[in-house]
Amino acid sequence: MVNYKIADESLAEKGKEALYIAENKMPVTAKVIRKRFEKEKPLKNITIAGCLHVTKETGILARTLKAGRAEVYLCGSNPLSTQDDVTAALIQEGINVFAWHGNTDEEFYWCIRQCLDAKPNILIDDGGDMIVTAHQEYPDLISSGSIIACQEETTTGVKRFKAMDKKGVLKVPLFPVNDARCKNQFDNELGTGQGIIAAIYGMHVLFAGKNVIVAGFGHCSSGMALRARGLGANVTVTEVDPIKALQAKFSGYNVMPIAEALPNADIVLTATGCKHVILPTKEMFRLLKDGVILGNLGHFDIEVPTKELYEYAKEINPVRKDVEELIFPSGKKVYLLAKGRLANLVLSEGHPSEVMDMSFGLQALMSEYIVKNKEKLKPGMVDVPVDIDDKVGLLKLQSMGVNIDKLTEEQYNYIHGYEEGT
Ligand code: NAI
Repeated sequence: MVNYKIADESLAEKGKEALYIAENKMPVTAKVIRKRFEKEKPLKNITIAGCLHVTKETGILARTLKAGRAEVYLCGSNPLSTQDDVTAALIQEGINVFAWHGNTDEEFYWCIRQCLDAKPNILIDDGGDMIVTAHQEYPDLISSGSIIACQEETTTGVKRFKAMDKKGVLKVPLFPVNDARCKNQFDNELGTGQGIIAAIYGMHVLFAGKNVIVAGFGHCSSGMALRARGLGANVTVTEVDPIKALQAKFSGYNVMPIAEALPNADIVLTATGCKHVILPTKEMFRLLKDGVILGNLGHFDIEVPTKELYEYAKEINPVRKDVEELIFPSGKKVYLLAKGRLANLVLSEGHPSEVMDMSFGLQALMSEYIVKNKEKLKPGMVDVPVDIDDKVGLLKLQSMGVNIDKLTEEQYNYIHGYEEGT
């Protein structure tokens, strides 16, 4: 029996087409790992709950976990990122799904609870809402050992769990998959970098010659700055970390405080994991240029102060799907993408499948690792083993027909030794 609540079951055929596209672009997750999982069934008798953006790529991960004989539950990790056609196709394959595009906050947490009610053994989270809910509302699942361990997909979630660990309230072994090299150096940089294209879709705007602010110069934002410059924009980076700011400056970007940059900015894109990157004050709103486009690609809808912008606006007009024109009391117009939520997922399809192949290859192998090592795991943050990270990297290279050199024994001893010098 499949458990589900989704938007529209009649969208299944369209969802199958989307999954077909992703399947072919994710050889590591959909072919190599899945083939072995089908044979070895490493996830037999295991229930996995994923609180993830329910996109076609997540569908591929779910299929691979199911091939390993896991019972899979999915709910969305963002109210606006669920692809309703994909959910319709997945329930036909026996994957339990509680997700639909545009759910309210209350519905969002209801979906999480449906997944936790299934008594999962492994939680795969994206942003931390499911694992935090498990701590707050399902302590028995943790104390009984029903939850063996958890995996976190994004920077914001990892930050939340580090804070919990520091406070001594993280009660599960937590693998920050986001921090694996095969994840954040590709998914965050390339995926979110390309995500600025969503801003173009949103407003159909020409980037060439525009003044674009990119807030942050971390994994996601440095990728976004690079792509915006590649499209011909004049890019200004804003930062709070002096080293990241230096990196941006030496990469040739303008660097300055956001309040200085705002009056000239045609487009502002944020991906910092911080709150109120544009401060929610009338003085700050007055600095915004007439016609400016505001888009956020960070996890939560608080980087661009969405709530306060809505309160300040005297009129809000939908311009196209998930794009709104906010008219300020002065008559100034501001265009807000995706209600301040992840613009790349809401306005477009999220990261390209090729890049999610590595993230989800890691998630699949980490689920297997957790089952194999369950007796040894202790509560707290545990790094993804380097050999699993390297393995996904090598599989990806192989799938692309790329070979690399191997260290000789002499080279290995040299770089791991100290005796040889001048
Ligand atoms: P990161 O830690 O590599 O970079 C964040 C950067 O923002 C840091 O350099 C930090 O110094 C800077 N920053 C912090 N507060 C700032 C402020 N007030 N003004 C200017 N700069 C500030 O993090 P990463 O991996 O780039 O992730 C950023 C956000 O994007 C997170 O919320 C993460 O969860 C999310 N994310 C979104 C994805 C998407 O598909 N849209 C994909 C992956 C991550």
